[in-house]
Amino acid sequence: MPRWDPTLYLAYESERARPFLDLVARVPIAPRTIVDLGCGPGHLSAVLRARWPEATITGVDSSPEMVAQALRENADASTRYEQGDIAAWAPPEPVDLVVSNAAFQWVPDQLEVVPRLRDHVAPGGVLAFQVPDNHHEPNHTLLREIAGRAPYAEHTTGLATVRTVSPATYLDLLVDDAWDLDVWGTTYYHLLEGEDPVFRWIAGTGARPVLQALPPGLREEFTEEYKAALREAYPRKAYGTVLPFPRTFVVAKRRV
Ligand SMILES: C[S@@+](CC[C@H](N)C(=O)[O-])C[C@H]1O[C@@H](n2cnc3c(N)ncnc32)[C@H](O)[C@@H]1O
Repeated sequence: MPRWDPTLYLAYESERARPFLDLVARVPIAPRTIVDLGCGPGHLSAVLRARWPEATITGVDSSPEMVAQALRENADASTRYEQGDIAAWAPPEPVDLVVSNAAFQWVPDQLEVVPRLRDHVAPGGVLAFQVPDNHHEPNHTLLREIAGRAPYAEHTTGLATVRTVSPATYLDLLVDDAWDLDVWGTTYYHLLEGEDPVFRWIAGTGARPVLQALPPGLREEFTEEYKAALREAYPRKAYGTVLPFPRTFVVAKRRV
């Protein structure tokens, strides 16, 4: 697992929050209990609170840095945060809404873990999540290609593989008579400002395992090579740099 840097991650806070807003808007219940798996630095709890003022919210994240940031910023008595692993998560009682934004791709056996999470959803409750569907996008193919070459490959084997999933895969996986499914995909066209914005974006998330595995010296060399390739794949225009970002959404409601 990479070490997370909440400040770097929050550099694109509003762009990263947008899919969560779109996800939450489609949740068709009024939950009393909410658990946000892979909650990150806790900035998205405000979205949940705005929609459901009375709910009890628990954020779970495996990163001590992210949980510490969430606890530092929290002023809401009905919101708590705890460190925990999504793959091992088991609440004391079923939860009305289990929600997750851009986190399941980090769980190594996502396609086995996510269906099991349904066991923790109360009757009439919802499992709602968003995962990136971008492993074919140039920022990821270039990361794999460059990390796979000498002299980087010996340090980065297996680290540039993201586990993003398409809407169709999740639909196939989760179809079940006991659940109503709402599954869709959206490509966001983020308009980013400044120098090397696609690198800055991915350095806060998907490229972290590779960057952290490279020793000093090689890391800088890799960074320059990767940035140059990204500049070619995502040319800077007069109005900024466009980062297309496909994402998968699932809202699964348990029938009563
Ligand atoms: C891209 S961030 C998303 C944060 C937040 N949900 C958001 O949308 O801004 C991914 C988060 O998932 C967390 N994470 C990754 N693997 C995890 C796991 N197995 N269990 C719990 N959290 C995990 C990371 O620590 C990180 O905070």
